[in-house]
Amino acid sequence: MSSSDRPAAFADTRALRACWHPVAFADALTDRPLHADLLGEPLVLWRGPGGRPRAMSDLCVHRGTALSLGWVDGAELVCAYHGWRYGPDGRCVAIPQLEDPGRVPAKARVAAYQAQERYGLIWVALEEPRWPLPEVPELEDSTWAVVPAGPYRWECDAGRQVENFTDFGHFPWVHPGLLGDPSRPVVPRHEVRTEGHVLHYSIVRPEAENSEEFPVFGNEQAGPPERRSRYELHLPYTIALRLGWGGERGMVYFFASQPLSADRCTGYVMIGRNYNLDQPDQVIQEFEDTIFGQDQVVVESQRPERVPFDLAAELHLKFDAVAVAYRKAMRSLGLAAPVPIGAPAD
Ligand code: FES
Ligand SMILES: [Fe+2]
Repeated sequence: MSSSDRPAAFADTRALRACWHPVAFADALTDRPLHADLLGEPLVLWRGPGGRPRAMSDLCVHRGTALSLGWVDGAELVCAYHGWRYGPDGRCVAIPQLEDPGRVPAKARVAAYQAQERYGLIWVALEEPRWPLPEVPELEDSTWAVVPAGPYRWECDAGRQVENFTDFGHFPWVHPGLLGDPSRPVVPRHEVRTEGHVLHYSIVRPEAENSEEFPVFGNEQAGPPERRSRYELHLPYTIALRLGWGGERGMVYFFASQPLSADRCTGYVMIGRNYNLDQPDQVIQEFEDTIFGQDQVVVESQRPERVPFDLAAELHLKFDAVAVAYRKAMRSLGLAAPVPIGAPAD
């Protein structure tokens, strides 16, 4: 079989159902239901008693109306079209058109999914999740300031967005003066250690100094630069990046990408720091908007729009070690698999 008719390997949307994914910033989910897309499934998110997040299919079983058009009433979600009421387990509990509204047929239910709120995000798993969320205690420590950035909605798969976040070679070219210096394009040596579904690697950053426009880093305050970045890439699409500045000052970048469908995604960033606590959020947010805007143009131009997980599909050099390890691990864990030619992209 020649390489051209070897089936390409892509993220397996069925396998991804058994993973936690971010679906919204927690602040965006108020007392009204909210629509979200996850792996091609339309979801309605809402808060039940005590503010607990709930996730269900966003299709009313009666006529397919979006339940996210409805409203929350106590522990129930009410459809906007004919007022059918749903409990948090997805079962319809009342049909107002019936003489006895409680005589609900057993078939009147929609799928309900596991949901939780953590790190300022709402997370959903469409099937029993294989792994828990990463532990990032800094984001839950009241002595740290945490700033959200995004959401960044891109026309590519979540894998392309994650790989861009982990790609060192592009910093001087796409982010000159902000994350890289075009006169120092060599990627520092780094090695990737894969443990289960987590890739660990670290690098001494080659990036430029703080710019005047975006003074977001702790460089100057920390004395001699020992600017080590420690990454944890939690498969499939979550990254915890810890930046050290050689002293007590620390910064955490937490990034998670929501696979809306096979070729669209939304990225969420939570940035924690234990210095400059009074700096307005806007400084970091505008910096992130600039960086993600620079990346988006490049990444949305990539073809295919989805990361090809077959190592022969693109050209990898030694400094692409993270991309290689990511592709190997995604395949060995069954999160990416060959797709038969002609099969739909889900
Ligand atoms: S479509 Fe939802 S109650 Fe009729
Ligand atoms: Fe970038």
